[in-house]
Amino acid sequence: STTYPFFGEHQAGITTPVQEHLHFASYDMMSRTTREDLISLLQDWSYAASRMTQGLDVSATGAVGGPMESPPDDTGEAVGLAASGLTITFGFGPTLFDNAGQDRFGLAGQRPPELEPLPAFLGDALDPAQSGGDLCIQACADDPQVAVHAIRNLSRIAFGRAKIRWSQLGFGRTSKTTAAQTTPRNLFGFKDGTANILADDSAALAADVWIAQDQPGWMAGGSYLVARKIAMIIESWDRVRLSEQQRIIGRDKAEGAPLSGGDEFTAPDFEATGANGKPLIDQRSHVRLAHPDLNDGVRILRRGYNFVDGNNDLGRLSAGLFFVSFQRSPAQFVTLQRALSTDAMNEYIRHVGSGIWLVPAGATTGSYVGAALFA
Ligand code: HEM
Repeated sequence: STTYPFFGEHQAGITTPVQEHLHFASYDMMSRTTREDLISLLQDWSYAASRMTQGLDVSATGAVGGPMESPPDDTGEAVGLAASGLTITFGFGPTLFDNAGQDRFGLAGQRPPELEPLPAFLGDALDPAQSGGDLCIQACADDPQVAVHAIRNLSRIAFGRAKIRWSQLGFGRTSKTTAAQTTPRNLFGFKDGTANILADDSAALAADVWIAQDQPGWMAGGSYLVARKIAMIIESWDRVRLSEQQRIIGRDKAEGAPLSGGDEFTAPDFEATGANGKPLIDQRSHVRLAHPDLNDGVRILRRGYNFVDGNNDLGRLSAGLFFVSFQRSPAQFVTLQRALSTDAMNEYIRHVGSGIWLVPAGATTGSYVGAALFA
């Protein structure tokens, strides 16, 4: 089974080949916690993450090696399961540095100016109970039980210091981060991830994903994580004729080829027109509006997942895309999301949750994520 190192220059879970399952959790520090509590939490989290990502229990005594008279350190449901490509990625939210003017952890002076709540976007229907948070953890694995085990145990370790604000399960990756991975499909049935930034594109990673080396040591080599919980009105979408679905996306459903022609990996030609003189790729199609050519070259690394959270009272599935993107600056996401304000797809989606976190650089062996911030 695949294992990825926890320690390294960058945190794992960004350029790592996208796994099949997600458990994402946002946490708030509990009231009256101190800077020392935060440091000890990050140390304990990093230690447990360094073990779980290698397929080990959270501690040496683990699920069954401790005293019979105490609750075990590890909850046990991953005993016998392999690491399954588990990655655990930690992020720091704006409120960790400045909570409505309160500097709870002596960090206000180190808040990167760009780390602030995202601006409001046209059509936002955000639920505060599914948005924001002081800290986030993205756990991705090829086995859902392994991802859930990670979040469950990290939440347990946080007891008394931080508690879950909201969390999300995801299945079926909606992107790819290596050329070797096939392009998956989202719940609209279209290939998703075709034009994503790939792990071997070091020029694009340096230009668009990693925070530059001239930034403070805890940030340089990190990235900004944006999460958007996007509800998809799939029952309405499923009544839309195929040609219209394709017009909205700007690509064909079978191959994912741009409507200007070619195959999946042919560059879209936004100038090409059909016999009626109209552009083959609609002006309001998702792919056109999100394309770098129309956004001063802006690109992001997408790493989202499908979700279905049961159903509503009308018997409709509560389905959607848990959109996750990594970028060296929040401005990249903001540019694209503003460009998408006229997206023809908007009739079929609604943004219901949102968050931004700075994912610090990777921890050096034996240290912890964010250590340089407290030096
Ligand atoms: C491309 C679906 C939301 C940014 C695509 C593609 C699909 C798709 C099918 C074409 C294949 C590909 O290149 O991956 C969706 C769905 C969404 C959604 C179903 C919501 C439920 C977003 C959001 C953003 C975004 C919120 C950013 C603000 C992009 C970008 C591309 C893309 C940058 C690549 C454009 C290019 O370079 O050709 N999306 N998307 N998408 N999407 Fe989305």
